[in-house]
Amino acid sequence: MLYDVSNRRIWFKGEILNVNDAKINILAPTSQFGLNVFEGIPCYWNDEEKLLYAFRLDEHYDRLIRSAKLMQFDLKYTKEDFKKALIDVVKANDYNENLSVRQTLFVDGFGSWASEGPVEMFVAPIPRGKTSAEYNKKGLNCCVTSWRRISEESLSPRVKCGANYINSRVGQREALRNGYDTCIFLNEVGKVAEGPGSCFFMVKGDTLITPRLTDSVLESITRDTIICLAQKELGFNFVERTIDRTELYMADEAFLCGSAMEISPIYTIDRYQIGSGNLGELTKRLHKSYLDCVSGKLENRKNWLTAIK
Ligand SMILES: Cc1ncc(COP(=O)(O)O)c(C=O)c1O
Repeated sequence: MLYDVSNRRIWFKGEILNVNDAKINILAPTSQFGLNVFEGIPCYWNDEEKLLYAFRLDEHYDRLIRSAKLMQFDLKYTKEDFKKALIDVVKANDYNENLSVRQTLFVDGFGSWASEGPVEMFVAPIPRGKTSAEYNKKGLNCCVTSWRRISEESLSPRVKCGANYINSRVGQREALRNGYDTCIFLNEVGKVAEGPGSCFFMVKGDTLITPRLTDSVLESITRDTIICLAQKELGFNFVERTIDRTELYMADEAFLCGSAMEISPIYTIDRYQIGSGNLGELTKRLHKSYLDCVSGKLENRKNWLTAIK
């Protein structure tokens, strides 16, 4: 049976519960200090095959394990446990639509920000509604935020830790206050890093360019997917390199990408028009290829998908 959003099922500490019954201690380090690591895992409904596909589960779980390792979590779950919990809870909700599954490891109990455990998990499928192709007809108006992206010298941007998102928040809030849709962060040395919940790509001439992983960016699964599709499926020229701020304003095309926003074109940055101020050709082709890939329509990329039966 299909549950409405407010009554959906959640996997919580080994049980499948109504989301309203999943309660976390207010004094737990996760509640107080954002001491959790998590993944947002996209699942796409393929209407022809009547199947839901989870995208790149292995890579999401590898990153979850790396995040937990860096934060020194006392981890009792294996990759197989992660996978089983996701499949069980998606099936328990009987979904036949696109989802984003939030899979979070959190430090529970009454400890402090230095505690290693107890580490618990929840897995919450969240229906996503439309894809970016449907709701993102208008491009993004971005600013370069005055806040800098967190760096290796303070909080590692490579991992998905809840507390990292306070940096995303200050940039996003500044953008909204000033009338923009979202922002682009520079890193500590003033080079382009990423968006608040997304990676940045631009096109110059016929070349797709993105900052290096050492420029203060998350080890993003979408970034990796786009690099792969651009080079192997579409034959685009691609370079991973440091990007200067002024290059943003002179780009021919630009977009932000991530599991949540998929590929979202940028039409202006700090009110400079990017390219023609419309959807660029390379971005359009990549977007189509990305959506085909995640929904199981690219035969040779089906190894990235896990069918939830
Ligand atoms: C800061 C940041 N960069 C990039 C991304 C995109 O990562 P992924 O493609 O793995 O969703 C996210 C996603 O949450 C993010 O928070």
